[in-house]
Amino acid sequence: MQKSDLNKENYLEQQNYYLNLIAELMSVRKRGETPLAFIHTYGCQQNVADSEKIKGMLSVAGFDFVDKPDDADFILFNTCAVREHAEDRVFGNVGALKTLKRKHPQIMIALCGCMMEQKHIAERMYKSFPFVSLVFGTHSLQNFPELYYRALFTGKRVYERDNDDKKIYEGIPVKRDGTFKGWLPVMYGCDNFCTYCIVPYVRGRERSRKPQDILNEAKELINSGYKDITLLGQNVNSYGKGLEEDITFAKLIGEIDKIPGDYWLRFMTSHPKDCSKELIDTIANSEHISTHLHLPFQSGSDPILKKMNRHYDRKKYLEIINYAKEKIPNVSITSDIIVGFPGETYEDFQETISLIKEVEFTSLFTFIYSPRVGTPAAEMDDPIPPEEKSKWFRELLSVQEGIAAKRCASMVGKTEKILVESVNEKNGKLQCRNSGNIIVECEGESSLIGTFQTAEITEARNWILRGKII
Ligand code: 5AD
Ligand code: SF4
Repeated sequence: MQKSDLNKENYLEQQNYYLNLIAELMSVRKRGETPLAFIHTYGCQQNVADSEKIKGMLSVAGFDFVDKPDDADFILFNTCAVREHAEDRVFGNVGALKTLKRKHPQIMIALCGCMMEQKHIAERMYKSFPFVSLVFGTHSLQNFPELYYRALFTGKRVYERDNDDKKIYEGIPVKRDGTFKGWLPVMYGCDNFCTYCIVPYVRGRERSRKPQDILNEAKELINSGYKDITLLGQNVNSYGKGLEEDITFAKLIGEIDKIPGDYWLRFMTSHPKDCSKELIDTIANSEHISTHLHLPFQSGSDPILKKMNRHYDRKKYLEIINYAKEKIPNVSITSDIIVGFPGETYEDFQETISLIKEVEFTSLFTFIYSPRVGTPAAEMDDPIPPEEKSKWFRELLSVQEGIAAKRCASMVGKTEKILVESVNEKNGKLQCRNSGNIIVECEGESSLIGTFQTAEITEARNWILRGKII
């Protein structure tokens, strides 16, 4: 198999050259009509940000984008490996393209993302789906133009993964999905190796972007009218490791906060072991950073946290939460939780329930443990049957529903700054969000989408608020 010959120094010029070749080839094939691409993204915001780069590159090659695969010349699935359920959906959806490819053999189907960095999965997909022409992993994103051109020009299948490249490639064009909500990656990869998690294996070691590159991109976003900017990284709190500059995540976000304008700054995801008081103080003293802290705790039981390799305990987690509650008035705290980690008992699970009650989270992302091949947890004894885990999961949801409803009810009568995001197609109301990331539904004109408004909260419906724009 021929490896890509990415020129690390002049990669932008080199890949631009391939984008021009793609444009010429497609123009001949389509007889001057605009080529169309369908990009489907699974998983986290990091994948969404990667897809925005792929769309950026395809735009340079003259592509437009469609919402259905049927009309596309190029179909790409950007995949997620974090849980089995996400993988199953990809297998199902790629399999379903077989008929389309048979009808229109000129369509090119490609797969990329985290699943492709797992050797056994990438090989299985490559073998099971001979109609897939191009496979590349997360570390080959910057050579996408070259790989795509090679598949187009030679008509042969191209398969490139396991590229051990630690360089950060700046300057790749981005075509953003939103016009007022934007993603801004600050770092890539993860060094934490939580025992259940596949991310460090598929996204590689931590690499931080230079602060100046991030600041420039933030300015560009703010100056072009973005109102809600989320700084992205698997563990933003360890931002800066390995950089020449003496910088922490708190300092970085503090610097971005100084850029003038009317916008909110958010960040995802924080790790409790590295979440510093300095960061919380920065949020408390900032002008633009939202009053929302997403701080995944995964389990409330200390022995389980140890087995997960999380490097904090319940006491330390609660210390950070209490500090945040003290410093940031009305802070909205959300978290990720795993139910049914190998060896977890009902008593351990009750520790998670008691933590939820103590913290009173605004909302939770809850997952049943899913074994990932190659991670230490997949080798651990897991005696609890799936039905039992599902029962615990339902118990957790019902406890959280009560907490969220109580929290939302306590906000009735308050006045909140909100960002109008969309129209809810079911009830015609404007779907908005407050700084704490809680949904607020209001009556109003769709012309308000993308603007900040002030609303009086009139009603709480479980975890959603209703309000009146004033
Ligand atoms: N099983 C279930 N949930 C997982 N997560 C990560 N790996 C797994 C797994 N193997 C969850 C964690 C993480 C979120 C992004 O996904 O809660 O914070
Ligand atoms: Fe996975 Fe843990 Fe890294 Fe988060 S911090 S990406 S859960 S290994």
